[in-house]
Amino acid sequence: MVITNSAEHTGPGPGRGPIALMLGHPDPATLATPEFRSAVAAATDAPDFYEGLQYGLDAGTRNLRELLQEKSSREQGLSIGPANLMLVSGATHAVDVLARLYAKPGGVVLVEAPTYPDTLHIFRDHQSELHAIPTDEGGLIVSALEERLAWLKAQGKLPSFLYTIPTFHNPRGSTMSEARRRALLEVADKHTLMIVEDDVYRDLSFNGPVPASCFALAQGHGQRVCSIGSFSKTLAPGLRLGWLVAPPDVIQTCMACGTTQMGGGASPFSAQVVAQYCRSGHWEPHIRRLRAIYAMRRDLMVAALERYMPAETTWTRPEGGFFVWLTLPSMPSTVRAGDVQQVAHEAGVAVAGGEAFFLDPHDGHQHLRLAYSYAAPGDLDAGIRTLAQVINGFMRSQ
Ligand SMILES: Cc1ncc(COP(=O)(O)O)c(C=O)c1O
Repeated sequence: MVITNSAEHTGPGPGRGPIALMLGHPDPATLATPEFRSAVAAATDAPDFYEGLQYGLDAGTRNLRELLQEKSSREQGLSIGPANLMLVSGATHAVDVLARLYAKPGGVVLVEAPTYPDTLHIFRDHQSELHAIPTDEGGLIVSALEERLAWLKAQGKLPSFLYTIPTFHNPRGSTMSEARRRALLEVADKHTLMIVEDDVYRDLSFNGPVPASCFALAQGHGQRVCSIGSFSKTLAPGLRLGWLVAPPDVIQTCMACGTTQMGGGASPFSAQVVAQYCRSGHWEPHIRRLRAIYAMRRDLMVAALERYMPAETTWTRPEGGFFVWLTLPSMPSTVRAGDVQQVAHEAGVAVAGGEAFFLDPHDGHQHLRLAYSYAAPGDLDAGIRTLAQVINGFMRSQ
């Protein structure tokens, strides 16, 4: 694969946009590879190509489902059958369908604090009652979940599900250990709590294997765990293609959903191209290259943070995924992460203020999420230097 420098990469300067440390998008140079272009050509030349242009099956294109069943089963030592897996239009679609079908308006949904803001948006669209469970550097705090479940039970409330990002969390970058996943499953079992695990960053580990998914750890115990995967982070988000692995009754319910039935499943066109790409043996080597690329980007960002950030600023060093989670030093009490975000943007670097990642924005005032995945590698140093100058400026105004 040839990794080119993309014209989309921007840095500060006349006529150029701010350095984008805000976006959790893949590196643009990894998208339109020669292998992917060949797969598009081969898929469109194939005799059954017309099927990719027709309405599809509710579960999604069969050959791609089979490829995913094989990969998930092989990597996690599971046996995932056809009844356990459906294609979806990206992880976003899976979250929306599960919220639509399992958390009726007013239903209680538990989320992590912090969490991925677009899912809060979806849950709010479905008028869910949201409760936040705190996290630490090891992910969701299971004892806090148990306390909240007991409290909700006393109110006569049974949560519809817990939404968690156990692997290379967005925004924290943290990964739950296997022991913590097991503890979570134990509490969920005790309270008959369904778990929705968003595992879109699972394949992007920089240091070898990650703990088994909650779905894998729960298999055979009759627990309700739904696990969501996506091609957005390891191939291309424009495909709008992901998958849902879940107990057969959940897959049946999601396939019977109005939006699945009316649209005829996730895009057959994208699925045919991706199946062609995977069958040609390109996906797994591509994932291995992505791991090296994002590890290098993480290292560049962390080195710049060490070089420029004022004392008392702390940050995470993620072992995979796209994000560093930064904790600002104490500043004048009136300064919010949102103010830092705004001044940094004016100075030429776009970052995400912590407020959006919490149900109560107040909890995010001291945090920034920094994505190393998208901006040009050569801009990461300049972006962090500018951000550090802005933070120093706020500190001096104390
Ligand atoms: C945790 C998480 N889930 C889901 C998504 C979106 O996935 P998809 O493009 O497959 O809908 C993202 C993208 O940033 C994400 O960070």
